[in-house]
Amino acid sequence: MSAPALPPRVLGQPMNRVDGRLKVTGAAPYAAEFNPPGVLQAFALTSRIALGRIADIDTAAAEAAPGVRAVLTHRNAPKLAEPKPAQHSGGGIRNENRLPLADDQIHYGGQYVAFVVAQSLEQARHAASLIKIRYAADGPVLRREAGAKGEKPKKNNGEDVQINKGNVEAALADANHVVVERIYQTPQETHSPMEPSATVAEWVAPDQLTLHDATQYVKGVQDLLSKAFDLKRENVRVISPFVGGAFGCKGAVWPHVILTAMAARVVGAPVKFALSRQDMFTGAGHRTPTTQMIALAATRDGKLQGIRHRVETLTSPVGEYVESCGARSTGVLYASPSIAVEETVFPVNVSTPTFMRAPGECPGTYALECAMDELAAELKIDPLQLRMINHADAHPIHDHPFSAKFLKEAYQLGAEKFGWAGRTAEPGSMKKDGRLVGWGMATATYPAYKMAADVRIRLEANGVVRVQCAAHDIGTGAYTVLTQIAAEAVGVPVEKVTFELGNSDLPFGPVAGGSNTTATVGSAIYDAAKALHLDLAKLATADERSPLHGASPSKVVLTTVGHLSSEEDPGKSDAFADILQRAGKDFVESNGSFKPSLLKPSAAFQSFGAQFCEVQIDPLNPRVQITRFVSVMNCGRVMNAKTARSQILGGVVMGIGMALEEETVLDPATGLPATRNLADYHVPVNADIPAIEVHFVGEPDLAFNPMGARGMGEIGITGTAAAVANAVFHATGKRVRDLPITLDKLI
Ligand code: MOS
Repeated sequence: MSAPALPPRVLGQPMNRVDGRLKVTGAAPYAAEFNPPGVLQAFALTSRIALGRIADIDTAAAEAAPGVRAVLTHRNAPKLAEPKPAQHSGGGIRNENRLPLADDQIHYGGQYVAFVVAQSLEQARHAASLIKIRYAADGPVLRREAGAKGEKPKKNNGEDVQINKGNVEAALADANHVVVERIYQTPQETHSPMEPSATVAEWVAPDQLTLHDATQYVKGVQDLLSKAFDLKRENVRVISPFVGGAFGCKGAVWPHVILTAMAARVVGAPVKFALSRQDMFTGAGHRTPTTQMIALAATRDGKLQGIRHRVETLTSPVGEYVESCGARSTGVLYASPSIAVEETVFPVNVSTPTFMRAPGECPGTYALECAMDELAAELKIDPLQLRMINHADAHPIHDHPFSAKFLKEAYQLGAEKFGWAGRTAEPGSMKKDGRLVGWGMATATYPAYKMAADVRIRLEANGVVRVQCAAHDIGTGAYTVLTQIAAEAVGVPVEKVTFELGNSDLPFGPVAGGSNTTATVGSAIYDAAKALHLDLAKLATADERSPLHGASPSKVVLTTVGHLSSEEDPGKSDAFADILQRAGKDFVESNGSFKPSLLKPSAAFQSFGAQFCEVQIDPLNPRVQITRFVSVMNCGRVMNAKTARSQILGGVVMGIGMALEEETVLDPATGLPATRNLADYHVPVNADIPAIEVHFVGEPDLAFNPMGARGMGEIGITGTAAAVANAVFHATGKRVRDLPITLDKLI
């Protein structure tokens, strides 16, 4: 099925964001900005120990403080049902398998221990300071302990985590092979969206809950909250029209969402809880630290014979999160007769990790792509050439052809735009104005995901088209791109389309995760548009006054904007508006859906790209300054040249942060983050970021969906940290194998 060739084409146009004006004027409401009448404010008290229990808690002074309406602790919190996530698609995501305030046990620093509701935030905060807690503390485990065994998960989100193809040990032991074996480490990293998480909960009836929640998954919040409070699913409304960045930390239902709803029920009034920046470091997930051991075996001429990727990550005692670093990066990137991925997860007394932009693939490509650079140096082969030599023409594990890969084209265009041919191989050999210059590159990759979605389209007699799906725009441009798809699929001018999302009352929409929104919701839009055209065709062909009278409805197709024509006699056509008017209808409405196929795919759907980085480093003051970055991506059809570029820019910026700045440091005494605001958890600012060039290559991937588009929210961060680290090596001759690459590591 291909997209109809309609003039004017709207897919791919660099259309401005349809919500841009609302955002820049401050008129776009975010969760914490909803103020139902009588809304009360909440402040959460969190544990100052990482393991143990609450021996005593005295809330008398807090309860008597001015303005206080409730102080919830494990002693008085209502007991809720365990909200088991549904196994089928559509279930919410629960990262933490423990209800908030369930008992006196403390599993990690920062765990909620009391929740104070008052008239004002200041009153709630003051009252919280009056609560006296005596802890019985045990010694927490904060990092992988020597001798700990860990868990080896088989699957993660339904996919194999451990891979074993061929005999990798034999390849590594073969004396004819050049072997590189290195350990790479990435620290705990914390999502730092502009908008911290927030929930406003209102019980509009004893059995009806409305939530304004900063979430990537309104249907998921609806699912889990309805189970926890034993409500009919449709009696929980979750509203989230705008989200100020998320990157994965708003995908799961975190304890504060349940706590806020619980508190609102107790006080009998709406309650608002907005996480502080500090709360975000323990209350909404983070990227687990990783230790990755990569071993590569290659022939002298650079052909990989074995890749072994051993990964150690952490999770909390109350969550089973797996940061699968190898399966969809090392298991996909290069041709090799033997590939092994081994993932081990260790529970520690740190809050539960979660998805963070390209979870797994991001740290995974950092380690593998640094190791490839080390192998290239060992073999004295150009790093780009080494990637070309090992290009995987088919999927390295299951051998399916890639649907539309274009990675070689990405390498070539990137090299050309960057000027890679001018690179001299020797580290430290390139200089400018007394500074060392380094050029590094890496491969980017991220899988193309599709989930399930339902879409409703209503075409009104006045030409307005309303499209509905409980999808999300987490800052990505989804409002705009889905509007473009709807305009093209229905066949109306883009100005006529209004897209409604971010509300659980709408037809089912998937989590805004895994970069799946465009592919999934777009496919459902095409399905609904097809149904709409058929409904219009039935009206027209049954109507004696229509030029299409008597034609078979299934032989009537969209030909040009606002018109259906007979496939057999293209001269006969009818306008949407005329069809509706003659039928005396104010509107027609149709539904469509998309369900990912349960059949094993016959093609491997995966996106690829190439990252090129230039750094300049003063040898006496070796702070890494990135001076150029070129990112070339293949993600199928570019749906909107502006929002696509922004997605990749954002990913690269975040990857630069990972490479040079970001690290959540835990206080070993308490297990609490010592970096807990944006003054000490550094993310890139303008001075850290050079002009970044973004290019796209390739063709629409029409085997993947009718738009030919794969997602691009996450791929931009993959490979970025490796390109930076490789450039730093090229400039200085120093391999820094633990991120971030701060000045002290280069002295
Ligand atoms: Mo993304 S880490 O799947 O929100």
